Amino acid sequence: MTRIEVISSYISDNEKVIDVGCDQAFLSKKLAKRGIYSIASDIKDNIIESAIKSTNIELKHFIDFRVGDGVTLKENETDYTLVLSGMGTFTILNIIKDNKVPLKRIITISNNNHDILRKEMNSIGYKIDLEEIIKEKGKYYNLIIFSKGKQKLTNNEILIGYNHQNKELLKEKNDYIKHKYSKIINNVDNKELELVIKAIDSYKY
Ligand SMILES: C[S@@+](CC[C@H](N)C(=O)[O-])C[C@H]1O[C@@H](n2cnc3c(N)ncnc32)[C@H](O)[C@@H]1O
Repeated sequence: MTRIEVISSYISDNEKVIDVGCDQAFLSKKLAKRGIYSIASDIKDNIIESAIKSTNIELKHFIDFRVGDGVTLKENETDYTLVLSGMGTFTILNIIKDNKVPLKRIITISNNNHDILRKEMNSIGYKIDLEEIIKEKGKYYNLIIFSKGKQKLTNNEILIGYNHQNKELLKEKNDYIKHKYSKIINNVDNKELELVIKAIDSYKY
């Protein structure tokens, strides 16, 4: 399944969704085909213009296109599921920290630093519900779903993740990372990479 298909599979028919950093609004178009209304939001007006142009009339009724920096929800638009996909962890964290409107849950696919994302989200009051590794065009992606709450993660869970749904792909990704990091460690000492390999070796699939 593609990233968009996996995100869509975690969204129920009556859920209110805002996709921030929507680019060409592929997620909103996918949800619209299921009859689900959503907000497709991006910081760049030219991106939203071309997303609107590429959306056919029937699907347009289901999508509220918005231009803005971060979460463009109004004060009374509460309990949305926020999707942040295809951005780096620090952009994702800044957008979440700047948001003032209560959310239902947050679905992320960060490009990097998933350990920092898990740790920081925990420190601002979000727990991980589940994670899933997705492989699209030969590249691995780590989806994480957060909701409000407390959670004590172990060091291994911070590095590898919590409640992974696709153990087969997780193992495949971990084997790939271990191979890549082992080659680097053979040449230069790197304590952080050694910790990741240790976590991979002790992970119970
Ligand atoms: C690489 S694209 C990801 C597109 C899509 N979400 C995906 O997963 O394939 C990142 C998008 O995030 C938008 N973006 C970056 N920072 C943003 C911010 N602070 N607020 C809203 N959109 C932002 C960019 O304009 C760009 O369209």
